[in-house]
Amino acid sequence: MSQNLRIALTKGRLQDKSVELFEAMGLDCSPIQNPGRRLVHALPNYPLEAVLAKAPDVITYVEHGVCDLGIVGKDTILEKGGSFYEVLDLGFGRCRFALAVQAGSDFYGTYKTRRVASKYPNVARAFFQKKGMDVDLIKIEGSVELAPILGLADGIVDIVETGATLKENGLVPIEDVAPVSARLIVNTASMKLHKAQIEDFITRCEAELEKRRGQA
Ligand code: PRP
Repeated sequence: MSQNLRIALTKGRLQDKSVELFEAMGLDCSPIQNPGRRLVHALPNYPLEAVLAKAPDVITYVEHGVCDLGIVGKDTILEKGGSFYEVLDLGFGRCRFALAVQAGSDFYGTYKTRRVASKYPNVARAFFQKKGMDVDLIKIEGSVELAPILGLADGIVDIVETGATLKENGLVPIEDVAPVSARLIVNTASMKLHKAQIEDFITRCEAELEKRRGQA
């Protein structure tokens, strides 16, 4: 009997989509369907244990090798970085990072140093550095749209999915920063130590993703 692999799933929206993917791959995910407050779940018909974690912690657990695999958004990967293999774009959790400002404001039309608020300061820093533009960054923990409304920032770098949050708060996206979607990541040592098992898992994932692309 092969040793169980362990995968860290990002709690919330990506967790639901991950479970959908696993079920489609033939993995019985009934223990995660109604997880209650339990955070570790062994799957009954595949040698895999799923743990439910916050997005940045998925990377931490995979980097440290206590989880062999992880499913996490590219947004978290871009912000946190780290040492692991990013092996598959899973095609769900699609959204984008964008620079947004208050409707009618001219973000680039001044020589004054602009203030930018973001929950993702590293992403924002890299974006403006690439342009050779000096900005003051302010880290905000959530509902970043408030920062320009309250006059704290000239713009925000944030995740845009439907665009509804921006719109309802009088903001408009003026530039795309980076596309985002869920990724499968693998611990570098696990990739060697559990090569056959991990390859089996990746192959099953790929087959399902291929099927979805065929249906699109
Ligand atoms: C994210 C993001 C936006 C919103 C975008 O926030 O920060 O606020 O979703 O989605 P939309 O384009 O479909 O409106 P989240 O719900 O993760 O909460 P947060 O603002 O507290 O981070």
